[in-house]
Amino acid sequence: MCGIVGYAGPRPLKGVLMGGLRRLEYRGYDSAGIAIERDGELQLVKVTGKIQELENRIAGMDLSGSVGIAHTRWATHGEPNDLNAHPHTGCDDRLALVHNGIIENYHALRTLLLERDHRFTTETDTEVLAHLIEEHLENGKDRTLEDAVRLALQEVDGTFGLVVIDQHHPGKLVVARRGSPLVIGVGENENFVGSDASAFAEYTRDIIYLKDDEIATITSSDYSVRTLQDEARDPVVEEITWELDQIEKGGFDHFMLKEIHEQPQTVEDSMRGRVFPDQCEVKLGGLEDVHDILASAERIIFTACGTSWHACLVARRLFEDFVRIPVEVEYASEFRYSRPVFTPGTVLIAVSQSGETADTLAALRLAKDEGISVFGVVNVVGSTIARETDAGVYLHAGPEIGVASTKAFTSQVTVLSQIALLMGRLKGTLSKKRCEGILHEITRLPEKIRTILNQTDSIIEIASVFSKVNNALYLGRGYNFPVALEGALKLKEISYIHAEGYPAAEMKHGPIALIDDDMPVVVLAPGDQVYQKVISNIEEIRARKGRILVVATEGNETIRELATWVIHIPKTLDCFYPLLAVIPLQLLSYYVAVARDCNVDQPRNLAKSVTVE
Ligand code: M6R
Repeated sequence: MCGIVGYAGPRPLKGVLMGGLRRLEYRGYDSAGIAIERDGELQLVKVTGKIQELENRIAGMDLSGSVGIAHTRWATHGEPNDLNAHPHTGCDDRLALVHNGIIENYHALRTLLLERDHRFTTETDTEVLAHLIEEHLENGKDRTLEDAVRLALQEVDGTFGLVVIDQHHPGKLVVARRGSPLVIGVGENENFVGSDASAFAEYTRDIIYLKDDEIATITSSDYSVRTLQDEARDPVVEEITWELDQIEKGGFDHFMLKEIHEQPQTVEDSMRGRVFPDQCEVKLGGLEDVHDILASAERIIFTACGTSWHACLVARRLFEDFVRIPVEVEYASEFRYSRPVFTPGTVLIAVSQSGETADTLAALRLAKDEGISVFGVVNVVGSTIARETDAGVYLHAGPEIGVASTKAFTSQVTVLSQIALLMGRLKGTLSKKRCEGILHEITRLPEKIRTILNQTDSIIEIASVFSKVNNALYLGRGYNFPVALEGALKLKEISYIHAEGYPAAEMKHGPIALIDDDMPVVVLAPGDQVYQKVISNIEEIRARKGRILVVATEGNETIRELATWVIHIPKTLDCFYPLLAVIPLQLLSYYVAVARDCNVDQPRNLAKSVTVE
């Protein structure tokens, strides 16, 4: 949520900052701004709309200087407009600041600052930070910018990733973090900061993850990190784990389409070096030290949001089947404010693509504070959730840029399957023979996904019909109920068509009233244990003249008699149908959105990484 980039060094500022913003646009895109410091003077431009609007506004402007900051916004306080866009300034425009997060006590601070004659020009929570820092700079003779920022942050409740520049402290960026990610890029005679490393990956691969309650001072030649309590820190320089071409579209029209097509590879990558069917073994390096905890676990709580939560719903069935212990799946946003009863032997698994989702982070912290073992299933290496969990497994799906999550879901389910298999073997609840069969099948999935991607033409035809409707219902049972939820979420978030996912049999308890010509029904009916039950549900829709798209298993031609449209997926084990059935639903949503001329990668009102609650 909100993208931040900052630079200190000899390269043309405009190019570095705007290039960085473009890479971060997936984090928010309702307004954008840039500020630079040159010879002790600040220059600032901010506009409503996407980064292209800012590009247009600054075309031809000389924005050279020694340091600069830029921001792409996802509004929390104050509508997206030129004034509310970042960077923000105080009363006398001496400093400029970009911020990601929420200042929870901004109202009280604003009232106090108004009493002290500060003048506010925006409706944002962020502006109080600029005034507070300004006040601390002016009240203390010879006070450094970092001291002023530190003192200001002591008055603040809430979350922040922020970067400040000040005309009286030329050539310097001051950066601080609590709850919102920031990464420092270490170069030669130049240094960077970004909400994530994609902002500057073309210039350096050496990075420092700033931790909560740390503050850094960055110039072109140096950087130093301290805590907000003013203790020195010795930051570890790490290396970016992905390649630049992974954050480019690679010939596809959209990141989402590229990421859908990457899935044969990403599913394979998520089990590479981990799955050994002939030895009936699953080796998950990140969990090796906690085998005893997994073996003695008596209950699992999964927590996540959005698509990751859907992956957890699939996992519930997998774990109940293979591990035979009670499993709960909690929305992180609800869980964090509940009073959960943690019985002995409870293990919490937090699942997140970004590893930065504020609610998921808060949920895991709640469990950790209660002494519960907390594990993570995360995509972004070095992210906060990855660092705060006791142990975990990375997805290795590579950067996911499209706001609609696709490849992360399939990698999450693949990794969660592996954890369930590992636990089943550790606990002895899964026989060697059954485990062997499952492991052989999991390795065949990438090829099976590839065959579904080859059916794109027929999916485009179906999408042209769906693009004209206002509502859609998605139904599934058993392992495929979460896929119905995920299919509906994909359709609504990128095409703005109202869609609901339901357990197929629940339809007759209400939603069946909605079925008409304007509400096509997508039914997941692979040849699994509940196939015949789903067929009965299809009949109920047919009896009400509903139009039905059925996702069925290859070889099932009789289904054509019951369906308006059919998409076939290869045969697999019941537990792996979600990994195949979700692929045509991702493609369907994508092509519906394209047909409706929607901005697929940057759907309205959304942002990729939800770092505010
Ligand atoms: O990064 P996370 O997996 O924690 O994100 C969770 C949700 O915000 C995310 O899945 C969201 O629902 C996506 N837009 C779904 O496509």
